This record gives sequence, C-alpha cells and structure tokens, in this order.
Amino acid sequence: MAPTRPRTLGMGKLLPCLLLAFCVHGPLSHASNTVSRDQPLSGGQRLVSQRGRFALGFFQPDDTAPERWYLAIWYNRISKHTPVWIANRARPISDPNSSKLTIAEDGNMVLLDRLKSPIWATNITRDISNSTIGIILDTGNFVLAPASNTTYFLWQSFDEPTNVWLPEAKLGWNKITGHGTRFVSWESSVDPSPGYYAFEIDPDGSNQFIHRWNSSEIY
Ligand SMILES: *[C@@H]1O[C@H](CO)[C@@H](O)[C@H](O)[C@H]1NC(C)=O
Ligand SMILES: *[C@@H]1O[C@H](CO)[C@@H](O)[C@H](O)[C@H]1NC(C)=O
Ligand SMILES: *[C@@H]1O[C@H](CO)[C@@H](O)[C@H](O)[C@H]1NC(C)=O
Ligand SMILES: *[C@@H]1O[C@H](CO)[C@@H](O)[C@H](O)[C@H]1NC(C)=O
Repeated sequence: MAPTRPRTLGMGKLLPCLLLAFCVHGPLSHASNTVSRDQPLSGGQRLVSQRGRFALGFFQPDDTAPERWYLAIWYNRISKHTPVWIANRARPISDPNSSKLTIAEDGNMVLLDRLKSPIWATNITRDISNSTIGIILDTGNFVLAPASNTTYFLWQSFDEPTNVWLPEAKLGWNKITGHGTRFVSWESSVDPSPGYYAFEIDPDGSNQFIHRWNSSEIY
C-alpha cells in the first residue's frame, strides 16, 4: 500500500500541467481573455473568460448568409452557439479573417472591417487613455479598462446589452443623459439586427418595467 501513495500524488500534480500544456499549444489556442493593441482578435480566434464560462469571437447566425458575421459573446460550454451579446448587430462584416477587434490609438476598442473602416467602437471620451485592454469576464461582461487597473471599467457591454439580461447586469436609467439600459429583440431567429420588441425601465419613474412594440405601443 505505502509505495503506491506518492505515485498517485505525483500523477495528480502532473496531470494539470499536461492539460495546460495541451491547451496552450492546442489548435484552439487563443485562450487569452484579453484583447490589446499588440494582441488583436481576428478570424477564428476567440477570447475565453478566466474560468471558461464565456467566449467572445466572430459568429455567423445564418448558414445561408455566409457574408454576415458578428462579433459576439456566447456560452463557451454550450455546444450550440447561444449569443448573449452582439457588438455590430445592425452592421455585419463580410469576412472575419480580414477584420479585427483591436484597441485604437485613443484607447477605445474598435472593430475594423477589411477596409479598416470602424464598424463598431466603444466611443468613450471620459478617462480614456492609450494603454487600455478589453477583457471578457466570467459574468459575460466584456469590459474596457486601463491595463494598469483592470477593475476600473471605462466601458462595459452590460451597459449596452443586446437582447439578453445576464445575472449581475443592471437595468437602469440615467436621468442626466436620458440614456437607459434597453434590451431589444432580434429581427428574426437568424438576424440579430434590432427587432420590434424592447424591454426597459419606465422613464417616467414609476419603477415598473415596460415592454414596447415598435418603440411606441406598450404591452
Ligand atoms: C461613434 O461615434 C461616431 C461619431 O459620433 C458615430 O458616428 C458612430 O456611430 C459611433 N459608433 C458607435 C458604435 O456608437
Ligand atoms: C501614450 O501616451 C503617453 C502620454 O501622452 C505617451 O508618452 C506615450 O508615448 C503614448 N503611448 C503610445 C503607445 O501611444
Ligand atoms: C482601481 O480601480 C478601482 C475601481 O475604480 C479603484 O477602487 C481602485 O482604487 C483602483 N486601484 C488603483 C491601484 O488605482
Ligand atoms: C413597425 O415599424 C416598422 C419600421 O418603422 C414598420 O415598417 C412596420 O410596418 C411597423 N409595424 C407595424 C405593425 O406597424
């Protein structure tokens, strides 16, 4: 009995190292959770959150429309692509290989198409610096933060949701800017552009949620 024990312990320590080595060098090896100017995201690459819950990359909802790709976040452990957020929902790109998500010179995160035109950007001006990074978190939140302090979110996808309300995301209304969190349905099951149904807080302040149809008729 006694001699087998140390061996078991040895294997237990060795195995995670082997798995890690495989993950780092395997074919789906863009296991980083971070996008930066030195490390942009393109083609089939993806970011994966630290504990592996969420992935961010390019996604195609409609097999019959090969020229429509979106930058999206989905559940990394669900084999069927289930997007929870889309950056460019109304402006698909035609080719992820010649497009990239990167950090612009001013520090904003930007999705560039093959002509280097900005398709989507974080577009913030407050506190922006030229040394920022984008990080996909295990909550499904995609954030822009200074590289020197990744807990200080300059921008977060939770403030600009698509149609999914994830745990920990807040639904709110900014009285000063008049801007509220708003969830808007897809146009159809294969088209993520904004559809007819929206869900948001009542700007009249009565603490009730409202659903709208065509931005006017309230259900
Ligand atoms: C960023 O700001 C520019 C100028 O105001 C605007 O044209 C563009 O649509 C904005 N992009 C996004 C993704 O909001
Ligand atoms: C970032 O900004 C600082 C201060 O303005 C400047 O010294 C530095 O060269 C900039 N770095 C890059 C990579 O642009
Ligand atoms: C990082 O940002 C957080 C959140 O804004 C802040 O509480 C903290 O003091 C900052 N840390 C440093 C070292 O600046
Ligand atoms: C909803 O709005 C769209 C765009 O303005 C319009 O084309 C459509 O006819 C509207 N639907 C109904 C049922 O009014």
